[in-house]
Amino acid sequence: MSDFKAAIGSTTSTGAPASSDRNSLTIGPDGPIVLHDVHFLEQMAHFNREKVPERQPHAKGSGAFGVFDTTEDVSAYTRAALFQKGASTEMLARFSTVAGEAGSPDTWRDVRGFSLKFYTSDGNYDLVGNNTPVFFIRDTIKFPHFIRSQKRLPDSGLRDNHMQWDFWTLNPESAHQVTYLMGDRGLPRTWRNMNGYGSHTYMWINAQGDRFWVKYHFHSNQGLESFTNAEAAAMAGADADFHRRDLFEAIVRGEHPSWTLSVQIMPYAEARTYRINPFDLTKTWSHDDYPLIRVGTMTLNRNPENFFAQIEQAAFSPGNTVPGIGLSPDKMLLGRAFAYNDAQRSRIGVNFHQLPVNQARVPVNSYMFDGHMAYHHSGNAPVYAPNSGGRSWADETGPVADGWEADGEMVRSAYTLRPDDDDFTQAGVLVRQVFDDAQRGRLIETVAGSLLGGVRSPVLERAIDYWKSIDADVGRTIEERVRAGNAPAPAQGMGEGSERHPELEAS
Ligand code: HEM
Repeated sequence: MSDFKAAIGSTTSTGAPASSDRNSLTIGPDGPIVLHDVHFLEQMAHFNREKVPERQPHAKGSGAFGVFDTTEDVSAYTRAALFQKGASTEMLARFSTVAGEAGSPDTWRDVRGFSLKFYTSDGNYDLVGNNTPVFFIRDTIKFPHFIRSQKRLPDSGLRDNHMQWDFWTLNPESAHQVTYLMGDRGLPRTWRNMNGYGSHTYMWINAQGDRFWVKYHFHSNQGLESFTNAEAAAMAGADADFHRRDLFEAIVRGEHPSWTLSVQIMPYAEARTYRINPFDLTKTWSHDDYPLIRVGTMTLNRNPENFFAQIEQAAFSPGNTVPGIGLSPDKMLLGRAFAYNDAQRSRIGVNFHQLPVNQARVPVNSYMFDGHMAYHHSGNAPVYAPNSGGRSWADETGPVADGWEADGEMVRSAYTLRPDDDDFTQAGVLVRQVFDDAQRGRLIETVAGSLLGGVRSPVLERAIDYWKSIDADVGRTIEERVRAGNAPAPAQGMGEGSERHPELEAS
């Protein structure tokens, strides 16, 4: 990169001295601009194209570079190079909100994205998770509907609580994640003060070829802290970029946030008999059944030098795995394995993987050719495989190391239900056993405030029933608050919470 500060004057994009960045070329000081002021025209034309589409979803975010140090021996479970004891791997993290646009406030209530890219000696490994261990739905085909319901109305372009609750209550598998979202996790004080989860079940494979199911937990070493609704609302007005600023400035100060990675490991065969479907993304695994096993530490220690180049153009995908790590039969994960790279081909360009932030730190021999903005190339090496020109190709056949047995009739169906596979039990446990009284109180205020923010019949009644199914007492209290119409407005871009609801009073 050139030393821009030391350079005298500026140049055109082709390196010749530029005429002027301050005065366009005109016929006389007051006359029209002439068409052959090429530097002016190039500047204007490039400006018209200097934005790329924002991510859909997770548009607002930021991140930092760092290192992942594997401090424990987990080689019994995976042969992945980055998870061998003593390995130290360069990485990038990006944190985000889900529903807000690129300029939206960081402190609106939402789930937070927790995207990690590890530049490993076996290629890039991406873990694209959230600050919650579960999700709203369990089949990818519902995802576009879900995201649209959380974004904006087609006519007014406004966010809409009614639409959000309509989707959630018509898809009761959302209950566990909605309970997280309406609880303190929905308003992390900073990104440094939240946990991260891989959320899905992944596969780990050890050097002997033994397979395990794994869930990732990144626990914040800064501790968990949240905003109240009032604090978050005030911060949304005072500093819409509060979380972005907090991370950047902490790293400038030399306060490098860190997270401890632990995993839950399920022996491969137990997936068939566990009392919940272990691939259902709306469920967690009991820590009594599968205790946390420590792996190592992630530390963020380097800010981006250029936000656009290194954060906006960063491309994460759950499909980017490395040897020793695989996917699982989770229908969400398998859909995501397609969605991200496809989004990035459209958002950034077909050669997005060649950009420095996305580039593997090991040689790439991919047989993907040409396309817009091709930068890396393979010279005159054969462009096809197999070939007689000495260029190597992959040739795996037979059962795959990270595969699983899948057979049966081709169907369109929800997962087969197991004894504990209902939508509300784990959400109820979260409310009753994980939340303390104060957290439960805040949850009730938040839900009631949200329902009072424009949610109408019949969605309102469904939402009350939904909460009664999660927990009878909590549901009743929410109902009382909504009847009274006096809950404070939540901080979430979800409308005001001050209406009375005659339809509930009549019921
Ligand atoms: C199966 C349903 C899902 C689909 C189809 C989907 C699709 C997408 C797409 C297209 C993007 C934008 C990618 C880009 O432009 O670079 C995105 C971003 C993201 N998604 Fe998903 N997603 C799904 C579920 C999830 C789940 C379950 C999680 C977390 C557990 C998640 C976490 C994220 C994160 C963190 C980002 C931001 C990535 C970044 O920082 O660049 N998504 N998603």
